[in-house]
Amino acid sequence: MGGKVTVVGAGFYGSTTALRLAEYNIFDTVVLTDILEGKSEGLALDMNQSRAIEGFETRIVGATTTPEGAGYEATANSDVVVITAGLPRKPGMSRMDLIGINAGIVRGVAENIAKHSPQAVIIVVSNPLDEMTALAQIATNFPKNRVMGQAGMLDTARFTNFVAEKLGVKVGAVKTLTLGSHGDTMVPVPSRCTVDGKALSDLLSQSEIDELVDRTRNGGAEVVALLKTGSAYYAPSAAAARMAKAVIEDSGAVMPVCAWVDGEYGISGVYLGVEAEIGRTGIKKVVESKLTDSEVEALKAAAEAVRAKQADVQTL
Ligand code: LAC
Repeated sequence: MGGKVTVVGAGFYGSTTALRLAEYNIFDTVVLTDILEGKSEGLALDMNQSRAIEGFETRIVGATTTPEGAGYEATANSDVVVITAGLPRKPGMSRMDLIGINAGIVRGVAENIAKHSPQAVIIVVSNPLDEMTALAQIATNFPKNRVMGQAGMLDTARFTNFVAEKLGVKVGAVKTLTLGSHGDTMVPVPSRCTVDGKALSDLLSQSEIDELVDRTRNGGAEVVALLKTGSAYYAPSAAAARMAKAVIEDSGAVMPVCAWVDGEYGISGVYLGVEAEIGRTGIKKVVESKLTDSEVEALKAAAEAVRAKQADVQTL
Protein backbone atom coordinates (compact mmCIF):
# COMPACT_ATOMS: atom_id res chain seq x y z
CA MET A 1 0.00 0.00 0.00
CA GLY A 2 1.13 3.53 -0.66
CA GLY A 3 0.39 6.78 -2.35
CA LYS A 4 -2.28 9.40 -2.32
CA VAL A 5 -5.09 10.02 -4.76
CA THR A 6 -7.43 12.99 -4.77
CA VAL A 7 -10.89 12.97 -6.30
CA VAL A 8 -12.21 16.48 -6.95
CA GLY A 9 -15.98 16.69 -6.77
CA ALA A 10 -18.12 14.65 -4.39
CA GLY A 11 -21.13 14.16 -6.64
CA PHE A 12 -22.16 10.63 -7.55
CA TYR A 13 -19.29 10.22 -10.02
CA GLY A 14 -16.64 11.52 -7.62
CA SER A 15 -17.88 9.77 -4.49
CA THR A 16 -18.30 6.43 -6.28
CA THR A 17 -14.79 6.77 -7.72
CA ALA A 18 -13.39 7.56 -4.26
CA LEU A 19 -15.05 4.52 -2.73
CA ARG A 20 -13.85 2.21 -5.51
CA LEU A 21 -10.31 3.53 -5.08
CA ALA A 22 -10.47 3.03 -1.32
CA GLU A 23 -11.83 -0.50 -1.68
CA TYR A 24 -8.86 -1.46 -3.89
CA ASN A 25 -6.87 -1.11 -0.64
CA ILE A 26 -3.74 0.01 -2.49
CA PHE A 27 -3.57 3.72 -1.58
CA ASP A 28 -2.71 5.09 1.87
CA THR A 29 -5.12 7.96 1.39
CA VAL A 30 -8.02 8.93 -0.82
CA VAL A 31 -8.92 12.62 -0.56
CA LEU A 32 -12.40 13.64 -1.67
CA THR A 33 -13.12 17.35 -2.12
CA ASP A 34 -16.17 19.44 -2.86
CA ILE A 35 -17.24 23.05 -2.70
CA LEU A 36 -20.39 22.12 -0.74
CA GLU A 37 -19.38 22.56 2.87
CA GLY A 38 -19.33 19.30 4.80
CA LYS A 39 -20.41 17.09 1.94
CA SER A 40 -17.08 15.39 1.31
CA GLU A 41 -16.31 15.24 5.04
CA GLY A 42 -19.63 13.50 5.65
CA LEU A 43 -19.12 11.04 2.80
CA ALA A 44 -15.54 10.34 3.96
CA LEU A 45 -16.76 9.62 7.47
CA ASP A 46 -19.38 7.24 6.13
CA MET A 47 -16.90 5.48 3.81
CA ASN A 48 -14.32 5.12 6.59
CA GLN A 49 -16.95 3.42 8.71
CA SER A 50 -17.39 0.79 5.99
CA ARG A 51 -13.72 -0.23 6.27
CA ALA A 52 -14.25 -2.68 9.10
CA ILE A 53 -16.92 -4.46 7.09
CA GLU A 54 -15.31 -4.40 3.66
CA GLY A 55 -11.83 -4.98 5.08
CA PHE A 56 -9.75 -2.17 3.61
CA GLU A 57 -7.26 0.13 5.36
CA THR A 58 -7.13 3.10 2.98
CA ARG A 59 -8.21 6.27 4.78
CA ILE A 60 -10.65 8.59 3.09
CA VAL A 61 -10.26 12.29 3.90
CA GLY A 62 -12.98 14.78 3.05
CA ALA A 63 -12.14 18.43 2.40
CA THR A 64 -14.26 21.45 1.56
CA THR A 65 -12.58 23.67 -1.01
CA THR A 66 -13.34 27.07 -2.48
CA PRO A 67 -12.81 28.24 -6.05
CA GLU A 68 -10.20 30.66 -4.65
CA GLY A 69 -8.14 27.70 -3.44
CA ALA A 70 -8.94 27.37 0.27
CA GLY A 71 -8.92 23.78 1.49
CA TYR A 72 -6.61 22.44 -1.23
CA GLU A 73 -3.85 21.86 1.38
CA ALA A 74 -5.59 18.54 2.08
CA THR A 75 -4.80 17.43 -1.48
CA ALA A 76 -1.09 18.32 -1.26
CA ASN A 77 1.39 15.98 -2.94
CA SER A 78 -1.19 13.68 -4.45
CA ASP A 79 0.23 11.11 -6.84
CA VAL A 80 -2.95 10.97 -8.89
CA VAL A 81 -5.86 13.42 -9.14
CA VAL A 82 -9.22 12.59 -10.70
CA ILE A 83 -11.14 15.72 -11.69
CA THR A 84 -14.90 15.16 -11.75
CA ALA A 85 -15.81 18.79 -11.00
CA GLY A 86 -18.47 20.43 -13.13
CA LEU A 87 -22.10 19.97 -13.99
CA PRO A 88 -23.57 16.83 -15.55
CA ARG A 89 -26.00 16.87 -18.45
CA LYS A 90 -29.74 17.25 -18.17
CA PRO A 91 -32.02 15.22 -20.45
CA GLY A 92 -31.77 16.49 -24.03
CA MET A 93 -28.39 18.20 -23.54
CA SER A 94 -25.28 17.23 -25.44
CA ARG A 95 -21.97 17.05 -23.58
CA MET A 96 -20.85 20.06 -25.61
CA ASP A 97 -23.65 22.18 -24.08
CA LEU A 98 -21.64 22.09 -20.85
CA ILE A 99 -18.48 23.63 -22.30
CA GLY A 100 -19.02 27.21 -21.12
CA ILE A 101 -19.97 26.44 -17.54
CA ASN A 102 -17.54 23.57 -16.98
CA ALA A 103 -14.52 25.28 -18.54
CA GLY A 104 -14.39 27.86 -15.74
CA ILE A 105 -14.80 25.21 -13.07
CA VAL A 106 -12.19 22.82 -14.52
CA ARG A 107 -9.68 25.61 -15.14
CA GLY A 108 -9.92 26.81 -11.52
CA VAL A 109 -9.64 23.29 -10.10
CA ALA A 110 -6.69 22.42 -12.33
CA GLU A 111 -4.78 25.55 -11.30
CA ASN A 112 -5.31 24.82 -7.61
CA ILE A 113 -4.32 21.18 -8.04
CA ALA A 114 -1.14 22.13 -9.92
CA LYS A 115 -0.12 24.44 -7.06
CA HIS A 116 -0.42 21.74 -4.40
CA SER A 117 0.48 18.58 -6.35
CA PRO A 118 3.02 19.63 -8.97
CA GLN A 119 4.02 16.02 -9.70
CA ALA A 120 0.53 14.51 -9.99
CA VAL A 121 -0.91 12.57 -12.89
CA ILE A 122 -4.30 14.09 -13.74
CA ILE A 123 -7.28 12.10 -14.95
CA VAL A 124 -10.10 14.34 -16.19
CA VAL A 125 -13.66 13.06 -16.43
CA SER A 126 -15.61 16.35 -16.63
CA ASN A 127 -17.55 16.97 -19.84
CA PRO A 128 -17.16 17.73 -22.66
CA LEU A 129 -14.37 15.27 -21.98
CA ASP A 130 -11.85 15.83 -24.76
CA GLU A 131 -12.02 19.60 -24.39
CA MET A 132 -11.83 19.58 -20.58
CA THR A 133 -8.77 17.31 -20.76
CA ALA A 134 -7.06 19.76 -23.13
CA LEU A 135 -8.01 22.64 -20.83
CA ALA A 136 -6.65 20.90 -17.72
CA GLN A 137 -3.29 20.49 -19.46
CA ILE A 138 -3.25 24.18 -20.39
CA ALA A 139 -4.27 25.28 -16.87
CA THR A 140 -1.74 23.05 -15.08
CA ASN A 141 0.99 23.47 -17.69
CA PHE A 142 1.93 19.87 -16.85
CA PRO A 143 3.71 17.75 -19.45
CA LYS A 144 1.07 16.36 -21.80
CA ASN A 145 1.75 12.75 -20.77
CA ARG A 146 0.69 13.63 -17.20
CA VAL A 147 -2.80 14.76 -18.19
CA MET A 148 -5.34 12.33 -19.65
CA GLY A 149 -9.08 11.89 -19.84
CA GLN A 150 -11.41 9.01 -19.13
CA ALA A 151 -13.87 8.07 -21.83
CA GLY A 152 -12.70 5.25 -24.07
CA MET A 153 -12.78 2.66 -21.32
CA LEU A 154 -16.35 3.61 -20.51
CA ASP A 155 -17.50 3.66 -24.13
CA THR A 156 -15.75 0.34 -24.73
CA ALA A 157 -17.39 -1.18 -21.66
CA ARG A 158 -20.79 -0.03 -22.88
CA PHE A 159 -20.18 -1.52 -26.33
CA THR A 160 -19.05 -4.79 -24.73
CA ASN A 161 -22.16 -4.92 -22.57
CA PHE A 162 -24.46 -4.33 -25.53
CA VAL A 163 -22.75 -7.03 -27.62
CA ALA A 164 -22.89 -9.52 -24.72
CA GLU A 165 -26.58 -8.84 -24.17
CA LYS A 166 -27.40 -9.03 -27.87
CA LEU A 167 -25.68 -12.40 -28.27
CA GLY A 168 -26.54 -13.76 -24.82
CA VAL A 169 -22.88 -14.46 -24.00
CA LYS A 170 -20.69 -13.63 -21.02
CA VAL A 171 -19.19 -10.13 -21.02
CA GLY A 172 -15.84 -11.82 -20.44
CA ALA A 173 -16.09 -13.48 -23.85
CA VAL A 174 -16.48 -10.14 -25.64
CA LYS A 175 -13.69 -7.78 -26.68
CA THR A 176 -14.56 -4.39 -28.16
CA LEU A 177 -12.87 -1.06 -28.71
CA THR A 178 -13.98 2.53 -29.17
CA LEU A 179 -11.67 5.42 -30.02
CA GLY A 180 -12.18 9.03 -31.13
CA SER A 181 -14.10 11.55 -29.05
CA HIS A 182 -16.44 11.06 -26.09
CA GLY A 183 -19.23 12.56 -28.14
CA ASP A 184 -20.69 12.69 -31.60
CA THR A 185 -17.43 11.64 -33.23
CA MET A 186 -16.94 8.56 -31.08
CA VAL A 187 -15.34 5.84 -33.21
CA PRO A 188 -16.36 2.31 -32.25
CA VAL A 189 -13.95 -0.09 -33.96
CA PRO A 190 -15.89 -3.19 -35.06
CA SER A 191 -12.76 -4.65 -36.71
CA ARG A 192 -11.29 -5.07 -33.23
CA CYS A 193 -14.42 -6.66 -31.78
CA THR A 194 -14.49 -10.37 -31.12
CA VAL A 195 -16.61 -12.87 -29.24
CA ASP A 196 -14.64 -15.87 -28.00
CA GLY A 197 -12.06 -14.92 -30.59
CA LYS A 198 -14.56 -14.85 -33.49
CA ALA A 199 -15.00 -11.65 -35.48
CA LEU A 200 -18.16 -9.76 -34.56
CA SER A 201 -18.99 -9.45 -38.26
CA ASP A 202 -19.29 -13.26 -38.44
CA LEU A 203 -21.90 -13.22 -35.67
CA LEU A 204 -24.00 -10.14 -36.39
CA SER A 205 -25.18 -8.42 -39.56
CA GLN A 206 -23.83 -4.98 -40.46
CA SER A 207 -27.13 -3.35 -39.49
CA GLU A 208 -27.12 -5.12 -36.13
CA ILE A 209 -23.55 -3.93 -35.51
CA ASP A 210 -24.52 -0.39 -36.57
CA GLU A 211 -27.38 -0.46 -34.10
CA LEU A 212 -25.05 -1.43 -31.24
CA VAL A 213 -22.54 1.20 -32.32
CA ASP A 214 -25.27 3.86 -32.27
CA ARG A 215 -26.44 2.75 -28.86
CA THR A 216 -22.85 2.98 -27.62
CA ARG A 217 -22.44 6.47 -29.06
CA ASN A 218 -25.62 7.51 -27.24
CA GLY A 219 -24.82 5.40 -24.17
CA GLY A 220 -24.46 8.36 -21.81
CA ALA A 221 -27.57 10.14 -23.10
CA GLU A 222 -29.67 6.98 -22.69
CA VAL A 223 -28.80 6.90 -18.98
CA VAL A 224 -29.34 10.66 -18.56
CA ALA A 225 -32.81 10.38 -20.12
CA LEU A 226 -33.79 7.66 -17.65
CA LEU A 227 -32.29 9.29 -14.55
CA LYS A 228 -33.71 12.74 -15.38
CA THR A 229 -31.30 14.31 -12.88
CA GLY A 230 -27.59 13.66 -13.25
CA SER A 231 -25.68 11.32 -15.51
CA ALA A 232 -24.15 7.86 -15.34
CA TYR A 233 -21.61 7.10 -12.64
CA TYR A 234 -21.23 3.39 -11.92
CA ALA A 235 -19.55 2.49 -15.21
CA PRO A 236 -17.77 5.86 -15.53
CA SER A 237 -16.30 5.60 -12.00
CA ALA A 238 -15.19 2.02 -12.62
CA ALA A 239 -13.21 3.23 -15.63
CA ALA A 240 -11.67 6.25 -13.87
CA ALA A 241 -10.69 4.18 -10.83
CA ARG A 242 -9.00 1.51 -13.01
CA MET A 243 -6.97 4.23 -14.72
CA ALA A 244 -5.83 5.66 -11.37
CA LYS A 245 -4.91 2.12 -10.25
CA ALA A 246 -2.83 1.58 -13.40
CA VAL A 247 -0.98 4.82 -12.66
CA ILE A 248 -0.12 4.11 -9.03
CA GLU A 249 0.83 0.49 -9.78
CA ASP A 250 2.84 1.58 -12.84
CA SER A 251 1.17 -1.38 -14.50
CA GLY A 252 1.70 -0.45 -18.15
CA ALA A 253 -1.86 -1.62 -18.84
CA VAL A 254 -3.09 -0.65 -22.30
CA MET A 255 -6.41 1.18 -22.09
CA PRO A 256 -8.47 3.33 -24.43
CA VAL A 257 -8.11 6.84 -22.95
CA CYS A 258 -8.09 10.45 -24.04
CA ALA A 259 -4.40 11.17 -24.63
CA TRP A 260 -2.22 13.70 -26.44
CA VAL A 261 -1.64 12.35 -29.92
CA ASP A 262 1.59 13.23 -31.64
CA GLY A 263 1.85 11.56 -35.05
CA GLU A 264 -0.01 8.32 -34.41
CA TYR A 265 -2.47 7.41 -37.19
CA GLY A 266 -1.17 10.49 -39.01
CA ILE A 267 -2.81 12.74 -36.40
CA SER A 268 -0.93 15.34 -34.33
CA GLY A 269 -1.43 18.03 -31.75
CA VAL A 270 -4.76 17.07 -30.22
CA TYR A 271 -6.21 15.22 -27.21
CA LEU A 272 -8.10 12.25 -28.62
CA GLY A 273 -9.39 8.82 -27.62
CA VAL A 274 -6.68 6.28 -28.44
CA GLU A 275 -5.19 3.23 -26.78
CA ALA A 276 -2.28 3.99 -24.48
CA GLU A 277 0.01 2.35 -21.98
CA ILE A 278 -0.67 3.78 -18.51
CA GLY A 279 1.86 4.00 -15.70
CA ARG A 280 3.51 6.16 -13.09
CA THR A 281 4.35 8.86 -15.63
CA GLY A 282 0.78 8.94 -16.92
CA ILE A 283 0.68 8.08 -20.61
CA LYS A 284 3.81 6.02 -21.19
CA LYS A 285 3.08 5.50 -24.85
CA VAL A 286 0.20 5.81 -27.31
CA VAL A 287 -0.32 2.37 -28.81
CA GLU A 288 -1.15 2.48 -32.49
CA SER A 289 -2.91 -0.62 -33.75
CA LYS A 290 -4.10 -1.85 -37.09
CA LEU A 291 -7.43 -0.29 -38.10
CA THR A 292 -9.32 -0.48 -41.37
CA ASP A 293 -9.04 2.48 -43.74
CA SER A 294 -12.55 3.66 -42.89
CA GLU A 295 -11.83 3.46 -39.16
CA VAL A 296 -8.69 5.59 -39.62
CA GLU A 297 -10.73 8.09 -41.65
CA ALA A 298 -13.34 8.25 -38.87
CA LEU A 299 -10.57 8.80 -36.31
CA LYS A 300 -9.14 11.63 -38.40
CA ALA A 301 -12.58 13.23 -38.67
CA ALA A 302 -12.95 12.95 -34.88
CA ALA A 303 -9.53 14.57 -34.43
CA GLU A 304 -10.51 17.56 -36.56
CA ALA A 305 -13.84 18.04 -34.77
CA VAL A 306 -12.15 17.88 -31.38
CA ARG A 307 -9.23 20.09 -32.50
CA ALA A 308 -11.59 22.94 -33.38
CA LYS A 309 -13.30 22.79 -29.96
CA GLN A 310 -10.01 22.40 -28.10
CA ALA A 311 -8.80 25.61 -29.70
CA ASP A 312 -11.92 27.33 -28.31
CA VAL A 313 -11.28 26.28 -24.71
CA GLN A 314 -8.00 28.22 -24.55
CA THR A 315 -10.07 31.39 -24.21
CA LEU A 316 -12.71 29.98 -21.83
C1 LAC B 1 -21.35 9.44 -19.80
C2 LAC B 1 -20.90 10.73 -19.24
C3 LAC B 1 -20.34 10.58 -17.88
O1 LAC B 1 -20.96 9.09 -20.90
O2 LAC B 1 -20.03 11.38 -20.11
O3 LAC B 1 -22.14 8.77 -19.12
